[in-house]
Amino acid sequence: MAKIPGRVLIVDDEEHIRKIMSIMLSKRGHQCRTAASGQEALALAARETFDVVFTDLNMPGLDGLGLLARLRAEAPDTLVIMVTAFASVDTAIQAMKEGAYDYIAKPFDDDEIALVLEKALERGRLLDENKRLRREIGERRDANVFLGQSPAITKVFDTIAKVAETKATVLITGESGTGKELAARSIHQNGPRAERPFVAVNCGAIPQNLMESEFFGHVRGAFTGADRAKTGLVAEADGGTLFLDEVSELPLEMQVKLLRVLQEEEVKKVGENTPRKVDLRVLAATNKSLKDEVAQGRFREDLYYRLNVIALRMPPLRERPEDIPMLAAHFLAQAVAKNNLGPKRLSPAAIRLMAVQTFNGNVRALKNVVEQAAIMSDGPIIGPDDLPFSPATFAGQPQSEDGLPVVRLPRDWTDLKSALRSVTELTEKEIIGRALGSQGGNRTRAAEVLGLSRRALITKIALYGLDGPKGGLRAGAVGQGGDPAVPADGEALP
Ligand SMILES: Nc1ncnc2c1ncn2[C@@H]1O[C@H](COP(=O)(O)OP(=O)(O)OP(=O)(O)O)[C@@H](O)[C@H]1O
Ligand SMILES: [Mg+2]
Repeated sequence: MAKIPGRVLIVDDEEHIRKIMSIMLSKRGHQCRTAASGQEALALAARETFDVVFTDLNMPGLDGLGLLARLRAEAPDTLVIMVTAFASVDTAIQAMKEGAYDYIAKPFDDDEIALVLEKALERGRLLDENKRLRREIGERRDANVFLGQSPAITKVFDTIAKVAETKATVLITGESGTGKELAARSIHQNGPRAERPFVAVNCGAIPQNLMESEFFGHVRGAFTGADRAKTGLVAEADGGTLFLDEVSELPLEMQVKLLRVLQEEEVKKVGENTPRKVDLRVLAATNKSLKDEVAQGRFREDLYYRLNVIALRMPPLRERPEDIPMLAAHFLAQAVAKNNLGPKRLSPAAIRLMAVQTFNGNVRALKNVVEQAAIMSDGPIIGPDDLPFSPATFAGQPQSEDGLPVVRLPRDWTDLKSALRSVTELTEKEIIGRALGSQGGNRTRAAEVLGLSRRALITKIALYGLDGPKGGLRAGAVGQGGDPAVPADGEALP
């Protein structure tokens, strides 16, 4: 059996040759199709993707060299192998100069042809792999590190783990910089398609007049300037994942076309009459509310339902400030490596200052702040003064939407570990307080809401002193004073 099973097209005007080759190769596990002429081969290649085409040189009508030229233009990823009588080896060599991958002289036996094919498939695989690596290195670097230990981000990790195995479409929502693209990559990486392409399309960045050909590809000569065939993003993602970023930016007319492609799992290049099959896993992201866009008539409801099979919301950083120290440390190490800086670390005060920022640009903004500070700071220690926050932004306790302080830290922690521990505990206390508040102080219901046993909840209530006179009875009233672990005056920020 072949190491890599290939999709092969055999072109020859003599029926017995087609038969023999196709039997030889099918026996080894390759998928073979045959064509009796150059024209027939082109028609087939327009409908299906082939890894390798074996073509006879001398055929009536479109001959081997003519077919080669057309395939080079119309299916540039397909490797062409010339099959030739011994007498015309010169022509075969000429063909290789014109872009044929290899040639094989008749008569050949089983092993010979299988070997030539395997070599070609291996080469094709390397080319694909190369393309994929280059694309990923360009886009990704170490962008795949996905950090966090807050309950909010843990929930995201859980969802990703669940959906990664499936082919379900996921609509990822969240403010700018919350990690939507990272989540999409992570779904891809953790699923069965990890070795196949991940094709990210920024729907807001493609000029409208190029959109169709970017997405679906085009045949040579489909329009002025189309002097080479183009695969198209959808076909590139075949077998892998298509990530539609900023999906709300798709013009309505593209939405219709894309929906059709997703439903039929078939794509038709611009200038082509017959569609070809594609196997896609689709992920989409938006920082707008697609529901609102639907209500405003800017987004098609049918496409919305097609995309929103699983909804994944990326929580903004202000809902998980306890992730800030960990992220900051990671981005600092990254910035140091990337910019060849000497060893640097964040002072505890700098971490505390960061942990109370709102970061409208979320994780991306945090990353920028840390990188800037790493570059601008003089010594090995980055202090609060090296951070670009104006005093006004941290004069008071920042407030989250429901009016609770975003984060309160004890004065006495000194290193990242103790900072993380304190912040986790404080957040846990805050969450338990909120749950109690929202359930009118009913511990059984609060335990249910939290997914804790009642017993565990009671232990925690005692631990955090939430059983005081007013403890946790009102949402928003928790933890704002009277807690021995947290100085009532909060953090004395620089
Ligand atoms: N949890 C995380 N751990 C590590 N890095 C993260 C995390 N979340 C986001 N990042 C990093 O922050 C940056 C922004 O993330 P990403 O591009 O995925 O966000 P986004 O939601 O797609 O943003 P936008 O809405 O602007 O497109 C990236 O460099 C990403 O690697
Ligand atoms: Mg993004």
